[in-house]
Amino acid sequence: MAFKLSDIPSLKDKVILVTGGNEGLGKESVFQLATRSPAKIYLAARNPSKAEAAIAEIKQRAGPECAPIQLLSLDLSSLDSVKKAAAEVTANESRLDLLIANAGVMGAGGVTEDGYELQFGVNHMGHALLIRSLLPLMQETAQREGISAGETRCVILSSSAESFAPASIYPFDELKSDYASAGMWAKYGISKMANLHYASQLAIHYPEAKTGIRFVSVHPGGVITNLGDTLNNWPKTERVVRKFAAMLLNLKPVEEEGVRNQLWAATCPDGMGDGLKAPESGGFYYPVGIAGKGSKTAYNKAKADELWEWTEKELQPHLAV
Ligand SMILES: NC(=O)c1ccc[n+]([C@@H]2O[C@H](COP(=O)([O-])OP(=O)(O)OC[C@H]3O[C@@H](n4cnc5c(N)ncnc54)[C@H](OP(=O)(O)O)[C@@H]3O)[C@@H](O)[C@H]2O)c1
Repeated sequence: MAFKLSDIPSLKDKVILVTGGNEGLGKESVFQLATRSPAKIYLAARNPSKAEAAIAEIKQRAGPECAPIQLLSLDLSSLDSVKKAAAEVTANESRLDLLIANAGVMGAGGVTEDGYELQFGVNHMGHALLIRSLLPLMQETAQREGISAGETRCVILSSSAESFAPASIYPFDELKSDYASAGMWAKYGISKMANLHYASQLAIHYPEAKTGIRFVSVHPGGVITNLGDTLNNWPKTERVVRKFAAMLLNLKPVEEEGVRNQLWAATCPDGMGDGLKAPESGGFYYPVGIAGKGSKTAYNKAKADELWEWTEKELQPHLAV
């Protein structure tokens, strides 16, 4: 039996953070979660005016039952911005129950403020620092009375595009440049491979049995969002053509089908019954809740180990001691 949005349980008292909450899958996630009575949702975004507009829209859609939504300024292309955002949450909250690392960029070229290839830097490095910085607060949350193991979750958005990553992953020296010799799909693929490898490594280095935290990565399916807008800055007329193409390609709307897999991963409790299975820590899931569909490299632990070790070294100067 498939997970439906109506299966999302009450999120009473929970504090939630969603990155890229101002658009697409992130905005729909915030809307859905906001109607399940959490104590607060941080909508993390890099553009304050877009974020404020999204919060107003979500509040209007959700009506009086909408949970408090707070804008968190976060530019994942700057590790300094990530540190500030994590520090703000840590200073103001005594718990963080759910972190959805949803924001993503596809097709844009260049480097981040810290010199990483843009997609790898935003999709992986920025999120990795955010997650590592917030783990102490999440661990405290998971140890609270009344919270069961695996209820505190970190969900990372990956993609079926992980299969576009070249077998030579990870070219770490190139990933600290604009990696001009690689094509856009290869670079996006590497960043999405890193997303799922990182989730699997978090599950190993922060085991649920010890920390209470469950780490999950998901491919949401093909969903109609703005993700492709950075591809050559499509002019408006072409966007209309693309929307038509989206229909032909059977892309799903964000509402209901599009957002379902990440919300299943974030909220489906253990032992829900009706044949509904909760995610396992370290798992990578296609919609909805289907394991084992990644590429061969997706399950290559040696590659995931390499990514973990390299990322840890890179982040060390940025992590509070
Ligand atoms: N749509 C699909 O078919 C599909 C398929 C597989 C995986 N995914 C994954 O799903 C996730 C959500 O994407 P989406 O489809 O909802 O795309 P979207 O509508 O383009 O949303 C992406 C979000 O990420 C934010 N973002 C981009 N760069 C950022 C940065 N430097 N700092 C902070 N936030 C940043 C965007 O903010 P701005 O509005 O300011 O740009 C936006 O809020 C991504 O990780 C994507 O890889 C999507």
